[in-house]
Amino acid sequence: MSGQVRRAVRVRAPASSANLGPGFDCAGLCLALYHELTVREYGGRGFELHNSGEGADSLPEDETSLVYRALGTAFGRTDHRPGRLVVESHSDIPLARGLGSSAAAGLAGLAAGFALAGLEVERPALLDLAMGSEGHADNAAPCLYGGFTVACRHPAGVRCARLPVPEGLTAVVAIPDFTLATSRSRAVLPRTVDLADAVGNQGRLALLVAAMATGQLDLLADAMVDCLHQPYRAPLVPGFEAVCRAALAAGALGAALSGSGPTIIALATGGQTDIAAAMAAAWAGAGIRARTHVLEVDEAGLQVELIEGDSAT
Ligand code: HSE
Repeated sequence: MSGQVRRAVRVRAPASSANLGPGFDCAGLCLALYHELTVREYGGRGFELHNSGEGADSLPEDETSLVYRALGTAFGRTDHRPGRLVVESHSDIPLARGLGSSAAAGLAGLAAGFALAGLEVERPALLDLAMGSEGHADNAAPCLYGGFTVACRHPAGVRCARLPVPEGLTAVVAIPDFTLATSRSRAVLPRTVDLADAVGNQGRLALLVAAMATGQLDLLADAMVDCLHQPYRAPLVPGFEAVCRAALAAGALGAALSGSGPTIIALATGGQTDIAAAMAAAWAGAGIRARTHVLEVDEAGLQVELIEGDSAT
């Protein structure tokens, strides 16, 4: 790596758990598991990407990579013509498991691109851009803002509200050793739903938001029940009901499919080790190996740091 660095930025983008039961395509929780991107810009032209961490062996390191495309999207909205870019991309977020790895990678690339161009882009604009590529914002919103978020489309852009989570609330994620592409998990959803299912979900989502806002955590078990996506996706996730039941029996406050799966998330304020063990055992009972993590909720969201160069263009 030769030449002098003109500017370098580091971005830390968190994992996220979308839906949280009834909040299909709108609710999400930011988790303390990260994708870290460091981009150094030198004189000349060229692009080098070095992946490490989760899924590094299967990820492209050329112009087809999500990070490269996101950097390009950001530069395309500025008049910055980048020099030679050297990118270190390290992710601890498992791929295609329902933990927002794509949203984190895309937002990290966007934020790094704007920072290299010397522009401070506000979160609502980043969310609109991310929504453009993902189609729904329930991973991008918590990744950007941290905490618990609800977000929905509006003709003028994505509307998003963020709540801090009640003190002590943590997530136990049980991540099976198989992947499930969001496209496959969306393909099984029906085009229309029963009115009673829609009304039920609407009530439980309101309850979920109220439980988070007021700290009435005993509401979570009922509030996290879903009729819009989980019943259709359960056949793609063998052991789904058993793992949720095991989490609740071991003391979890609520349990749901994380995003489009196959990870299952349980929320708890205590007994996390027992809950994790019960979830892994239930999955083993369905013939599936799973790893578990106890994760804090990340309240800060995406972080961007200029590590070399000045902030003005
Ligand atoms: N809300 C999305 C879904 C999250 O459940 O399909 C995955 O991107």
